[in-house]
Amino acid sequence: MKDAHGRVIDYLRISLTDRCNFRCIYCMPEDGVCQLAHDQILRIEEIEQLVAVAASIGIKSIRLTGGEPLVRKGVVDLVRSITSTPGIENVSMTTNGVLLPAMADELKQAGLSRVNISLDTLDPEQFREITRVGKLEDTLAGIDAALAAGFDPVKVNAVTVRRLDQDFLAFAKLSLERPLHVRFIEYMPVGTSSGADGCGWGKEDVIPSEELFAIINERAVSEGLPELQAAGKNQPIGWGPARYFEFPGAQGTVGFISPLSRHFCSECNRLRLTADGKVRPCLFSDTEYDVREALRTGGETAVREVLYEALGAKPDEHHDKVGTERNMSQIGG
Ligand code: GTP
Ligand code: 5AD
Ligand code: SF4
Repeated sequence: MKDAHGRVIDYLRISLTDRCNFRCIYCMPEDGVCQLAHDQILRIEEIEQLVAVAASIGIKSIRLTGGEPLVRKGVVDLVRSITSTPGIENVSMTTNGVLLPAMADELKQAGLSRVNISLDTLDPEQFREITRVGKLEDTLAGIDAALAAGFDPVKVNAVTVRRLDQDFLAFAKLSLERPLHVRFIEYMPVGTSSGADGCGWGKEDVIPSEELFAIINERAVSEGLPELQAAGKNQPIGWGPARYFEFPGAQGTVGFISPLSRHFCSECNRLRLTADGKVRPCLFSDTEYDVREALRTGGETAVREVLYEALGAKPDEHHDKVGTERNMSQIGG
């Protein structure tokens, strides 16, 4: 399936819920977002139907996100059903990890291929400051559980925000002893861009990946470590835009996701589905296409038409747009 700009679109990101057991400052306001009513949310069977249609027109990879996808009831059964959908080759998940100690084994058995775990600091107090309600030890236990369950690769997503003064080298060093793939993500202006609702993004908070790369190398050398080099055989599989490096001899890698300093829009391969059944052609576009109505009243042909309509509306790039009507937790990262 190709879009109007010649890009092959074979990846669908599905937000299973707008709810979350954290309240990360860059993702949602302190009191959460106005939650969707039960009947606005796609039912598990509706998601299954949509995936079958999406697969029939060329979607091969599915990523389940949220909010926090593991708080959605029926998620394990959904993974099982999506992995057995003809045409789907890969099902992965982006999670904050809190529920992985309880669920990693059953998710693995259900056929989940990979997990990406969001973690922005290794300092317990800063973790509380960023997530507002979370405990560092819970997410660390989630990472342990993902490795113990045999997920490979396990990636760690760290959003970098200048004013937070995170210890980036400590993070990069997570890749030394265990097969962890740490990815530093530039803070994106998603959600309401004013500070009023707690999602206050400012340009001054963005740390361009190139600057971060230099900071990490400088600190590594000052600790007697070698500099990062282009990743070799450790480079993890993935469908996303990260560029990977590694410390010589490390088990894992250090990746950079640079949506602002190095647009990857020309390589964009994805569509997004929100929990309330809207297809979004782009993370930054507020134009959405209603597939819920098509699922509930139209059937397979109507669903396919909505998907093609969204595909046709994929913009060439995000044009440095600042702010979106919905927050990240509602769009699905
Ligand atoms: P892999 O297949 O494991 O590489 O997954 P991924 O990097 O696509 O997914 P993940 O959910 O871990 O996302 C990592 C970061 O990339 C998050 O901050 C996402 O918001 C961001 N991201 C994912 N897709 C897009 C996109 O299409 N555009 C932009 N600007 N950012 C994206
Ligand atoms: N900028 C960059 N990444 C973000 N994420 C959430 N909000 C933002 C933002 N404003 C990340 C989460 C998660 C992934 C799905 O998106 O940390 O890892
Ligand atoms: Fe929850 Fe992820 Fe948003 Fe944090 S970034 S509040 S863990 S959905």
